[in-house]
Amino acid sequence: MKRLIAEREKARLGGGEKRIEAQHKKGKFTARERVDMLLDEGSFEEYDMFVTHRTTDFSLDKEQYLSDGVITGHGTIDGRTVFIFSQDFTVLGGSLSETNALKICKVMDQAMKVGAPLIGINDSGGARIQEGVRSLSGYASIFQRNIMASGVIPQISAIFGPCAGGAVYSPALTDFVVMADKTSYMFVTGPKVVKTVTGESITDEDLGGATVHATKSGVTHFVGANETEGILLIKKLLSYLPQNNLEEPPLAVCSDPADRLDEKLNTIIPEKPSIPYDVKDIIHSIADNGEFLEVQRQYARNIVVGFVTFNGISTGIVANQPNFLAGCLDINASRKAARFVRFCDAFNIPIVTLVDVPGFLPGSAQEFEGIISNGAKLIFAYGEATVPKITIILRKAYGGAYIVMSSKQLRGDVNYAWPTAEIAVMGPIGAIEVLYNRDLQAMENPEERAKFVADNAAEYREKFSNPYEAAKYGYIDDVIEPRNTRFRIIRALQMLSTKKDANPPKKHSTLPL
Ligand code: HXC
Repeated sequence: MKRLIAEREKARLGGGEKRIEAQHKKGKFTARERVDMLLDEGSFEEYDMFVTHRTTDFSLDKEQYLSDGVITGHGTIDGRTVFIFSQDFTVLGGSLSETNALKICKVMDQAMKVGAPLIGINDSGGARIQEGVRSLSGYASIFQRNIMASGVIPQISAIFGPCAGGAVYSPALTDFVVMADKTSYMFVTGPKVVKTVTGESITDEDLGGATVHATKSGVTHFVGANETEGILLIKKLLSYLPQNNLEEPPLAVCSDPADRLDEKLNTIIPEKPSIPYDVKDIIHSIADNGEFLEVQRQYARNIVVGFVTFNGISTGIVANQPNFLAGCLDINASRKAARFVRFCDAFNIPIVTLVDVPGFLPGSAQEFEGIISNGAKLIFAYGEATVPKITIILRKAYGGAYIVMSSKQLRGDVNYAWPTAEIAVMGPIGAIEVLYNRDLQAMENPEERAKFVADNAAEYREKFSNPYEAAKYGYIDDVIEPRNTRFRIIRALQMLSTKKDANPPKKHSTLPL
């Protein structure tokens, strides 16, 4: 018994007091402190505390630390089981050894058997250099498990320190990445190698800090101002997710009346179609208690994605954002939304789509970068999804973008439109310019041309820029009063709660990656 107590105490010290102090000085918590902050008090069951590495090369046999640089086990968050690994930077820089990888693989395997989420906290110098290919093999074994677990259990990665080299690919294979601002970074090749190979001088932060991955690469889904905030984000995220792909998400307790109306919505769409507004005002208005957990908030801001509850039912929101690039769909927005839709579909989370989209972003830059195959990803994701899909067309739904945004023909279950909806092949001015191209070219007087366009555009608007033409064909199930939107969504979600739909048997699809 004495030995057990002594050994546990030793293990809890990781790489020792000095290194713990150094960790704190950098504004970082230790691996064990992070586990304690994340899990319900007293719920942590630790595995493999007494594991040590087996390497003798480079005198490493003289540097033995119990737990070998990673804390693993399971516990609960809000009473629900999760598996966890937390890399300990105080032990050989949290570097990944053969034994360290075996510990991680053990919890990954158990998470899969039990059907519970996996949370990995990354803070590591990467592959343990002294172990060579054995360490690389450890990474590969983790990657393989990340792939097998994908779509089976939710996988969340926190980046609370360095994450460099091939090590970045485990977080990249998981569903959500959470970074802590200023104390974490991710890159495949660090500043030193970049300088040698390309001559470019760049700092860790500018190359792979949280801001870069939140705004430019889209690699991170959430950024906490610090680790504490990052941990709160993980807890909040989990509250929307089921334990695994065979379970439903938890039903939240809802104090917000299901039939709450919001008069403000009846006038929220500006009179002029070219005037933007913030779609997040609508999301906050219709969601339970106005709460919205936005995913990739700073990336591809022309589309908004995230989680809400409707009368307690966990739901994914996808919404065009007229406030940014007029809500056009571009490459990044298509990829962002496609990934989110596929996540929701994999984990039985219904999707509500709010549509106000003038079309795909035009221009050579988008075409050259592949808006065709990237836009196709979003069509694919919606068309493949079998979870309940509710669509509300708020204003513009033009051309291919109408089809993409969860249209009836892509198996939308309930498709509503506000009276302000405009559903057509293209906007009025563009349409008139195509339809009357020859007449317009024959007109020399610009004023005469402008009047001609305006007159015909008015006729076009009368015909197509409303929801009734689409409703006439049953592509829109109903035109609803905006103030009733919350209530109508909740009723649709309740009706769809027993929805069954499936795709034909196949090994997997060949979606245009
Ligand atoms: C073994 C390592 C290590 C590693 C750090 N340490 N990285 N030991 N293998 N990969 C040790 C250091 O020797 C040091 O030991 C302690 O951890 C803390 O490191 P410091 O350098 O003192 O800390 P800091 O100044 O904060 O710098 C952190 C760091 C730096 C930026 C992460 O350590 C670093 O650049 N490490 C190497 C990163 C790297 O190139 N890794 C390989 C990536 S490629 P002492 O005893 O002094 O405390 C890769 C391939 C994966 O990972 C492939 C997967 C497919």
